[in-house]
Amino acid sequence: MDLKLETNRLTLQPFIKEDATRIRDLANDKELSAILGLPHPYELQYAEDWIEMQPKQIKDGVEYPLTILGKEIMEVIGTITLRIDKGNNKGELGYWIGRNYWGNGFATEAVNRVVELGFNELNLNKIWASAVTKNKASKIVLEKVGLKKEGTLRQNRLLHNKYEDIDIYGILRNEYLNES
Ligand SMILES: CC(C)(COP(=O)(O)OP(=O)(O)OC[C@H]1O[C@@H](n2cnc3c(N)ncnc32)[C@H](O)[C@@H]1OP(=O)(O)O)[C@@H](O)C(=O)NCCC(=O)NCCS
Repeated sequence: MDLKLETNRLTLQPFIKEDATRIRDLANDKELSAILGLPHPYELQYAEDWIEMQPKQIKDGVEYPLTILGKEIMEVIGTITLRIDKGNNKGELGYWIGRNYWGNGFATEAVNRVVELGFNELNLNKIWASAVTKNKASKIVLEKVGLKKEGTLRQNRLLHNKYEDIDIYGILRNEYLNES
């Protein structure tokens, strides 16, 4: 399966070792790390360790971590991952965009393409994602791509010493095929 995915403005593709510095630079941001629960400061070693485990994850078909590359910007601007639950034939989306690039529709464009990969190439039955309830931008992205809110897990994550509600969003294969 070719994991180099194209959209109008983006290329999504597997990481290379050289992406580590850029990932560190983008992830080493207080606001982003607060939302994601990433360590801050974000050390280069975290990015290197993450990238190192990815070829095996992809080979085993358990996780597809991809960089989001802006075609005009000519740099990695974020990441998107589809995590596969083989037993239940479903995939979980996770993504982030570097703060300088927020509000341009990039996340929507990337999520759209990975949902297409999940249903059309991986033949999944369901794609889902979770978003901290107060994370309005992420929930808007999921809704724009066609995921529906399935419910709220109350005080489900401890983020920076505060218990946060988590909203679960999902789209089923038959909904996707009927819509597109
Ligand atoms: C969530 C995130 C990926 C969105 O990326 P993005 O490229 O800016 O997203 P898009 O531009 O495609 O869409 C964002 C939408 O949210 C809206 N939005 C952004 N901030 C908002 C806010 N505080 N309140 C309400 N709406 C907001 C934007 O207006 C846009 O909607 P629109 O297209 O109707 O105008 C990015 O903000 C991010 O990386 N956040 C931190 C990590 C994260 O939350 N990851 C997701 C975990 S589930």
